[in-house]
Amino acid sequence: MSGRLLIRGARQLLTLRGPSGPRRGASLRDLGIIENGAVLLDGPRILEVGPTRRIESLAEARGVRAIDATGKVVMPGFVDSHTHLVFGPPRLDDYEMRLEGKSYAEIAAAGGGIASSVRAIRSWTAARLASHAAPFLDLAARHGTTTVEIKSGYGLDAVSEIKMLKVAAALGGVPTFLGAHALPFEFEGRPDAYIDWLCAEVIPDVARRKLAVFADVYCDRDAFTREQAQRYLEVARSHGLLLKIHANQFARIGAAALGVNLVAVSLDHLEHLDDGEIQLIARSQSVATLLPGSVFHLGLHEYAPARSLIDEGAAVALATDFNPGTSPTCSMPMILSLACAQMRMTPAEAIAAATINGAHALKMGDRAGSLEAGKQADLLVLALGDYRELPYYFGANHVELVIKSGEILNVPKTG
Ligand code: NIG
Ligand code: FE
Repeated sequence: MSGRLLIRGARQLLTLRGPSGPRRGASLRDLGIIENGAVLLDGPRILEVGPTRRIESLAEARGVRAIDATGKVVMPGFVDSHTHLVFGPPRLDDYEMRLEGKSYAEIAAAGGGIASSVRAIRSWTAARLASHAAPFLDLAARHGTTTVEIKSGYGLDAVSEIKMLKVAAALGGVPTFLGAHALPFEFEGRPDAYIDWLCAEVIPDVARRKLAVFADVYCDRDAFTREQAQRYLEVARSHGLLLKIHANQFARIGAAALGVNLVAVSLDHLEHLDDGEIQLIARSQSVATLLPGSVFHLGLHEYAPARSLIDEGAAVALATDFNPGTSPTCSMPMILSLACAQMRMTPAEAIAAATINGAHALKMGDRAGSLEAGKQADLLVLALGDYRELPYYFGANHVELVIKSGEILNVPKTG
């Protein structure tokens, strides 16, 4: 009996129940709301979900510890499917230079940019990296994130990339190999040689040792070309890794189309798309993961065309892109506020994109992202009476209680 927990009386229980695939079109707005709803947990799994009267009358619910959510919203924990959560010091000089109007190239020339994060990752021990990352993971959890993907990509040599992946996994993240994030100075002027080396040496090792679930590549102007990205992703796929791609963040060089052709699980960023690309993505199997935090922090104005993507039928997800260069936030509620205000997503679409579709972007749609019997007991109690208040009251944290795998992560405790 001890592993059972009942959350009862929710004014709005957002179940996000529905068909097995990612949500598209009108189904993205269907939160599967139960008024006066309850969830019965059995250890790390959900046992039952339904109206409070029915759930409380179940034999399995008799005498179990209960949390009263009367007047509140209960929903699945957020699935943050795109982060670079393991990093060194914050890039505060880059930040100030950018605010002064300096370009990406000028910042890099002054010793900033991704290269400065690489220096820290290479010199820090795994233990130091983990103890630097852990408070951010805790902060993310207190803002409602119960599943997080974590990329490598600040090591850019075999030892440091593997160190990052091990830290990511030790923190409980879904590890993604992003060796093709930037060119390390050892390969300066030789991007093809770097990709060849990643393909021949690092990807096979990472895959054999099961250090990553996904492989990701930064394919853009001033990053890796479409041809380089294709070579890298095809080798990763041949070693059993699932694919992601940083696509169309700054320029249209065919990265999104490449991801679609390779059946990448997700295409991430997508700020710059033409109509043909929107159609292609909408008809594809890939989840379109939008990252408005980076547009906001960089002070840019061109957000991903979420409205067109959704209206054309794409499976849209939202994530933080938490990283020290372009998106230093691990708050999913902030991302929801940006998605609504800047990309005209509805609150319901934003919530579905940040939960069930985030889970699909990690190939975890069968386990996470919704409140349904048999799924992971990952859920939130919000100190709010209507789910639309979540993006509306921006910049504050209204997550009152976080339950991950059936464990309460934060107090308040109940009777
Ligand atoms: O997702 N665009 C590439 N990578 C990151 C930024 C990484 C950094 O600046 O440290 C992104 O925005
Ligand atoms: Fe990113």
